[in-house]
Amino acid sequence: MTETLTIKTPDDWHLHLRDGAMLRAVAPETARHFGRAIIMPNLVPPVVTGADAAAYRDRILAALPDGSGFTPLMTLYLTEDTDPEDLARAHNDGLITAVKLYPAGATTNSASGVTDFDKVRPVLEKMAEIGCPLCVHGEVVDSEIDIFDREAVFIERVLDPIRRATPGLRVVMEHITTMQGVEYASEGGPDLGATITTHHLVINRNHILAGGIKPHYYCLPVAKREEHRLALRRAATSGDPTYFLGTDSAPHTDANKLLPCGCAGCFTATNTLSILAEVFEQEGALDRLESFASLNGPKFYRLPPNDSVVTLTKGAPIDYPKQIETGDGPVTVFDPMMPLHWRVET
Ligand code: DOR
Ligand code: ZN
Repeated sequence: MTETLTIKTPDDWHLHLRDGAMLRAVAPETARHFGRAIIMPNLVPPVVTGADAAAYRDRILAALPDGSGFTPLMTLYLTEDTDPEDLARAHNDGLITAVKLYPAGATTNSASGVTDFDKVRPVLEKMAEIGCPLCVHGEVVDSEIDIFDREAVFIERVLDPIRRATPGLRVVMEHITTMQGVEYASEGGPDLGATITTHHLVINRNHILAGGIKPHYYCLPVAKREEHRLALRRAATSGDPTYFLGTDSAPHTDANKLLPCGCAGCFTATNTLSILAEVFEQEGALDRLESFASLNGPKFYRLPPNDSVVTLTKGAPIDYPKQIETGDGPVTVFDPMMPLHWRVET
């Protein structure tokens, strides 16, 4: 008997699509299986104004295959110069869905991010007033803090004070990687959500570092100890509406990954849904995949779930490309180190 699973079409609440040739290569990979995605604004230069977001949205729409129903949900990159009125207008016009906070220097293309959080206070207050969510890259950049502790320290030193100082601000803790992240999110009430990536449900830090360094498993926040991965798996499969899928699929060419100072990011758009089905089945939670991938995210963002559905069918291990070709060079698809039995029917 064939096993099938039909769920509302999922959304990706944290996605990097880049621009130009890379955008044209990776956009179809997400659009094949997903209805919508929150599009990260960390281009060079970043997407900082409503006009930037409108122009980028048009480039994304132009990169989609004919007939694609995929909707990019745009974000602005928060800087110390962000104009609260421009932001409010873009939100009111439906041009942007959220604003992204990168601490300056935390990750790829984050140089324009925030150093002095007091300087963005008026913007955060405006966002609380108009109900525009803040998506947070939750790592401190202090070089004295061990990279494996940067998320937990950020929660204590930055995130919690911001939330206390700005009542009503709706916050998404992006790509949580620790049990401290899970715990803080679980206690935050309806104004706090947390995304979890596909790859952090699969890898721990040994996969990056033991038996030879594996640049394709290097991303930020970096994967932590096994006990943290297990906490993330429990959170994602719990059905708790706090947690939803944000793949953080972040394409870099192999030439840029395989360097003495290689780029951070795992490219999971191509096989994410099959990996998630495998993970949820391993956890005995296939019936909760829909909550995590298709229902909890729209609920947090106050949007309806997608009308359409996708069907996954279980069978012999599926084939998927090990790399995708882009105009900038090949990009390696995330290797989950296990056979994937769930095929997404398109
Ligand atoms: O691994 C990552 N890659 N983490 C980020 O926060 C940024 C992303 C990218 O843009 O490559
Ligand atoms: Zn990201």
